[in-house]
Amino acid sequence: MSRSRLVSDKKNTYHILTYGCQMNERDTESLTGFLRQMGYREAAPDEAGILLINTCCVRESAERKILGKLGELRKYKLARPETVIGIGGCMVQQPGMGERIRKEYPYVDIVFGTHNLHQLPRMIEQCQFGQVVEVWDSEGEVVEDLPERKVEGIKAHVTIMYGCNNFCSYCIVPHVRGRERSRNPEDVVKEVHSLVGQGVKEVTLLGQNVNSYGKDLQPPVTFADLLRIVNGIDGLKRIRFTTSHPKDFDLALIEAMAESDKVCEHIHLPVQAGSNRILTAMNRGYTREHYMEMISRIREAMPQVALTTDIIVGFPGETEEDFADTLDLVEKVRYDNAFTFLYSKRSGTPAAELAEQVDADTKKARFQRLLQLQNGISLEHNKAHIGTLHEVLVEGRSKTNKELMTGRTRGNKIVVFAGDEHQAGETVCVRIDEARTWTLLGTLVPQNGQPQ
Ligand code: SAH
Ligand code: SF4
Ligand code: F3S
Repeated sequence: MSRSRLVSDKKNTYHILTYGCQMNERDTESLTGFLRQMGYREAAPDEAGILLINTCCVRESAERKILGKLGELRKYKLARPETVIGIGGCMVQQPGMGERIRKEYPYVDIVFGTHNLHQLPRMIEQCQFGQVVEVWDSEGEVVEDLPERKVEGIKAHVTIMYGCNNFCSYCIVPHVRGRERSRNPEDVVKEVHSLVGQGVKEVTLLGQNVNSYGKDLQPPVTFADLLRIVNGIDGLKRIRFTTSHPKDFDLALIEAMAESDKVCEHIHLPVQAGSNRILTAMNRGYTREHYMEMISRIREAMPQVALTTDIIVGFPGETEEDFADTLDLVEKVRYDNAFTFLYSKRSGTPAAELAEQVDADTKKARFQRLLQLQNGISLEHNKAHIGTLHEVLVEGRSKTNKELMTGRTRGNKIVVFAGDEHQAGETVCVRIDEARTWTLLGTLVPQNGQPQ
């Protein structure tokens, strides 16, 4: 297969497929920035000169889907041999994966990991002369000279730290993203300023465990400090953050949230399981009691707070009794929403070696019970909004009904209402009239109304 191609042709085009979490979406924005700097523009997959997959491996299902997709991309290579195919990100970072792709998918031109995506431009040049497989074992320094990104819309993600030190026993993330590295607050602020200059009104600060932000900096800075600093940025309307780890979530953060008017009253606090025995086996570093105590403190300080979580069902050794503890915790906390996952065995993690894996049928049945319980609670939460006023940051036209506008409450609930396109980027006051499991329907109220 010929690898010769005109990489410097300004008419060249790219297409990126992104799997996984917001971290990966943010990385894709950086990859896009590099490609744009090189003169590439976006195109449909069947027309693109460069096809990239940014991968996830947090669960086996993600990996299976991605390898299937990589197989499919071969048809583009067969139709147009000059197409460059590249794969990078978390999945590739697993031991032996680079080699496996090289052998099983020989038509792939570029293979890169999570730590060297800034080298994409060089790899594109180099792959004219042969397959490039470069996956760094360790993370190196935080790279700050990433290209300026082109943001669309009023919301953007800002990575404040990379990696994770927690090594939850089921999780592959620390193995593929390396140890925690915080960005300097000045660099974070610079990025937020630049985003605000491009019309961004809401930023979500990203990290695998934002509560340990800054511990590695000299002098150390806390996440609460960072929130206060970002809160001072003019032109920015809202601040969100994800993910908080219950073991590091502290009262200082609750105080900073309550004091900082731009920080929305929404906390995503993954509990993972309701049984202490399972929490210990997961190496989560907190007990059910500690978690419940934090939830009480949060609700005392911010009664309107929206709480969401992640839960894993069917961790090795999970008994019916353990699972009942999870259901019980969900009923007690009454989350606004929960992301529920079937435990997936990830090779290289300690939990994968545990003997008592829960069988697939039991896992699925428990998953359904949990889902049913949570869906009922989510709907009840939404119904409790009926008749109340909310500050909604307008995002634009609703995708499902172009006649209507859509936005989110401070608690991150989607609201659909009759409004004007020019309201995009504005905060408006909306009265909620109707509640569905995932959306609220409402009516605009003149601005002298008192949103919650
Ligand atoms: N750093 C964040 C999120 C990491 S990944 C945190 O600690 O909360 C997002 C979610 O995927 C996790 O919260 C967990 O619920 C889920 N997850 C991670 N590994 C998993 C596995 N092996 N099987 C099933 N779900 C998993
Ligand atoms: Fe994974 Fe735990 Fe780190 Fe989250 S905190 S990324 S679940 S190891
Ligand atoms: Fe995110 Fe998946 Fe990587 S969840 S950090 S893209 S393994």
